[in-house]
Parts: sequence; structure tokens; C-alpha cells
Amino acid sequence: MLDQLNQMHAAALSELANVDTDEALSDWYAQTIGRKGEVTLLLRRVGELPKEERPAFGRRANEVKVSLEAAYEETARQIKAAELEKQLRYGALDVTLPGRWIPTGRLHPTTQTLREIYAIFAEMGFQVYLSPDVETDENNFQLLNMPPHHPARDMWDTFYTDQEGVILRTHTSPGQIHAMREFCPEPIRVILPGMCYRYEQISVRADIQFQQVEGLAVGHNITLADLKGTMAEFARRLFGAERKMRFRSSHFPFTEPSVEVDMDCILCRGDGCAVCKYAGWLEIAGAGMVHPVVLRNGGYDPDVFSGFAFGMGPARSTMLRHSITDIRHFWANDLRFLEQF
Ligand code: PHE
Repeated sequence: MLDQLNQMHAAALSELANVDTDEALSDWYAQTIGRKGEVTLLLRRVGELPKEERPAFGRRANEVKVSLEAAYEETARQIKAAELEKQLRYGALDVTLPGRWIPTGRLHPTTQTLREIYAIFAEMGFQVYLSPDVETDENNFQLLNMPPHHPARDMWDTFYTDQEGVILRTHTSPGQIHAMREFCPEPIRVILPGMCYRYEQISVRADIQFQQVEGLAVGHNITLADLKGTMAEFARRLFGAERKMRFRSSHFPFTEPSVEVDMDCILCRGDGCAVCKYAGWLEIAGAGMVHPVVLRNGGYDPDVFSGFAFGMGPARSTMLRHSITDIRHFWANDLRFLEQF
């Protein structure tokens, strides 16, 4: 039995020499000096020996146990040290490396145009007023003088929600109602920027979502001349002091009279080119004097108050300024496009 013990000791030590992970080490421990390890089990059989051999065996058993435990501790320490060494080596921080490049974002080209538009109107006393993208049929149509079945609704088909009468707005004009109802009876000078949605064939000139900037002024003695002056001032500040303006009569159910606002082509200055389709003029906004019905829906007495409103698409202006030929680029999320601005 003493020989067996010595053999076990030697074998355990040589096995331990190959152990280099925590898992292997705990396996080794369990197999040798753990509660059910072979050394532990052998030591328990001391009673089977003749009496006179027991003290010698006991002494040796003790030595073996102490020796194996010490070897175990030492191996555990080595494994830990190797682990630390590895971490230090691979996790080393090289302070001489150049820093990592952090890409800075940039503003979407339409956002850039929008900010210029805000600044121009701010100087004319217009504040930015936000109103929701998800609207009621009532605000988007009815209160803008388009009752159900009004033929003008055909110009603005939209996306409908599960909820009866709740739609995505087709233009920023319902914001006129929100603003008037909030500010009435005070005079108003606001612009209302935001996304609009239309159920349309997508093409190089039309997308199903696009931004608009609505303008609304309500007060005493506001006339078409104020609208014209405001539009001309805006176009000259955004596109150049030499811009010429043209108003063409038009029709919107919520303005009376209604106009289309044109300016001379920024490229050919009126001579005719591909950008203006050889018309010499570019359409920049729909506009008009706020219809008496709409004023009344907003809470204003049309005999006392008057106002003008306009709506324009900042994407159009951005296309003109940067010679962008396809409106679908704006919301396609293609970095090759966006990184140019
Ligand atoms: N809401 C109109 C459109 O989307 C534009 C408009 C706004 C016209 C305000 C007149 C007054 O086409």
C-alpha cells in the first residue's frame, strides 16, 4: 500500500506538470486530493494495514498530502500569472498610436435649406410653429374649405390610418387652423415647416413624402401686396437680389384669390433652359389671401381680419441651388448623395 501511495504521488505530480488551465486544475484536484480523489480514498484504507505498519504509512501519507497540496497551490498561482500576462500583452495600450477618427455628422441638404428659410423669415418677424404630421380629415380638408366629396380633394390623395378620419397630412396647411385657434384673437406671423405625405406615383419630380414650409400672416389690413412683398423679399434673399417675381392666378379652396408664385429662372435668368423647361420661370410656391371661411374656422372675423398664406417645398429650392435632378435622392439614404453637402 505504501508503494501504491508513492506511485500515486509520482503520477499525480507528473500529471500536474501538464495542467495549464483552471478547469484542468480543478479536475486534477478532484481526481487526487479531493473528497473522492484516489489519494484520499487510499488514505482511508489505513485500517486495513497490520498495526505495526500504520505509523510509517501515516507519516508518509501526510507528506504526500502536503506535497500535493503545495504543488496544487503553486500551479494555481502559475495559471493566474500566465492569465494576467496574457491580458497585459493583448490589452496593451499603445499611447503613440494616432487617435481613432470619429466621423462628424452633417445636416441633410433640405435641413440646410430649411434653416436658411427660417432665418430669412425670422428677420421678417415670422416664428416657427410646428403642427402634427398625423392629422384629422377635418383639419386637413374640411376646415380648409374642402367638405367631403369636394373635387379639389382629388389633388391630394393621402395615406389613411386604421382610425376613421385620421390621415397623414397632405400639406402643411392644416397647421393654419392649429395656429389660428391657438393665437386668436392676436395677429399671427408664423411659418409651419414639416413633412407631408401624398399617395402618388413616385417620379423624379414627385415623392410620397416631402417637406413643405407653410406661411401664415393674419392681422388688420393685410393685403395681396403684403404677400407679394414677402414672397419677393424671400426669393431675393435665398436666390439672389436680382430675382424677378411673377404671380399667376390659380385656385386653392382655402385661399381667395389664389396665386402661383414664380421667379425668373436662376440659371438662364428668363431666357429659357432645361431647368425651367424653357419657360424662363420657376414656380416656388402656391399662395393666396386666406379664405373668409378658413379665417372664421380659425376664430377670426373676416370682416375685421385678413391674412395671406403660402406653401412651398424646400426640396425644390435645394434641387435648384445644387442642380439636383431627381427628388428621390432626398429620402433614399444614399451616403454617396448625402456626403456631397
Ligand atoms: N397647401 C397647398 C399645397 O400643398 C399650398 C398652399 C398653401 C396654397 C397655402 C395656398 C396657401 O399645394
